[in-house]
Amino acid sequence: MKIQRIFMTSVTRTKRLNRKLFASICCGLFICCFSLLLLIEKSFTKNESMRRDAEACYGSLTKHKNEYEIRYLEDIMEAQKKPNAGNSIFFHETTCSRSGLVHLNSRQACAIESAAKLNPNRDIFVLFASPVGFREIDSNLPPNIKALKNYPNIHFRNNNVWKYAEGTPAEKWMQTGTLFESSYLFEHMSDVLRYVTLYKFGGVFMDLDIVVQKNLDYLGENFAGDDSVDAIGCGVLHFDNDKLGRQIADNCLRFMATHFNGKTFIDNGPLVITRTLEKLCKTTNRSLMTREQCDGFQVYPKNTFYAVSWKNWHWFFDPKMVNETLALTENSAIIHVWNDVSKKAKLRIGSHTAYEIAARKNCPKTYYSRINFEYF
Ligand SMILES: *[C@@H]1O[C@H](CO)[C@@H](O)[C@H](O)[C@H]1NC(C)=O
Ligand SMILES: *[C@@H]1O[C@H](CO)[C@@H](O)[C@H](O)[C@H]1NC(C)=O
Repeated sequence: MKIQRIFMTSVTRTKRLNRKLFASICCGLFICCFSLLLLIEKSFTKNESMRRDAEACYGSLTKHKNEYEIRYLEDIMEAQKKPNAGNSIFFHETTCSRSGLVHLNSRQACAIESAAKLNPNRDIFVLFASPVGFREIDSNLPPNIKALKNYPNIHFRNNNVWKYAEGTPAEKWMQTGTLFESSYLFEHMSDVLRYVTLYKFGGVFMDLDIVVQKNLDYLGENFAGDDSVDAIGCGVLHFDNDKLGRQIADNCLRFMATHFNGKTFIDNGPLVITRTLEKLCKTTNRSLMTREQCDGFQVYPKNTFYAVSWKNWHWFFDPKMVNETLALTENSAIIHVWNDVSKKAKLRIGSHTAYEIAARKNCPKTYYSRINFEYF
């Protein structure tokens, strides 16, 4: 009897223990699942709010503090003066503006002025993705904007990114909002918009971190430039508007929409043109990408636009490298100074660097608007 009772108690005890163990496992599992859900929910709302923030910045309903005194730029799709198909030069400024005012730093203004000065036969369109304008009172204009106003072929416009993508192969993709979750939003927006522009109008696209040194007519139509071992550059591109160029723009936009990667810097610009041209030219060897091989498209050698490679960007800003850099870029149509890495490099006025010499010569009005300042 006694033994039986002891035995029974121990069985009950084990059962109780098992139940306790089961309960704590359940409890642990529940806490795990709950925290996981919380984490997913949190990162989802973070992405979601980042996206909504970014979308608001480029939307037409953006409210600026002093908007009563801002005269907003015309939208490129609504303005009377249209780009001349296949001939105009385009720049895209894609940062998110909180002030609602047109802002360009000296190097951006220099890119625009040099394009206008050396190509008076072409219209220059500077497109701002975030709605911006000038104060009604013109005397408040920043000196570098005033400098650009001297050129009758420079035109400032807004472009609403969603309306702009309408009627292009990127229209549906733009509606998905994927772009606005990118880790490199400004750069990737610039990547996307350049191909949209080339699809819509053809012509020349240029990055804002360049200096134009020549009239571009000698380059003909339909070109890009070789850049690094990894890719063909997309900082300077010409596509025609009705034949081969249009087809390439179409291919680029389709490739971009299906392969877009917001996590990698170069995926949506250089790799898009590189893969598209490899297909067209049926080779991956860029020195073979000539007009004969590529149905009329030309990939110019490195020294035409990207004589100094990304890794050596500091040569443009280093007084000790001035002679070597000038010799390398002497025959370049354009110099490209790699803003993503060079923007933090200060350029002292009078420091006698290759960039300063190119700027003084090719964007003199912008350069002299900074002459009383310490840095350019
Ligand atoms: C690319 O083509 C050039 C010119 O024919 C040749 O000299 C070079 O070796 C080729 N490069 C590769 C990686 O095949
Ligand atoms: C560049 O070349 C000029 C003329 O040959 C020379 O006087 C100057 O010292 C050189 N500068 C540098 C930094 O090497």
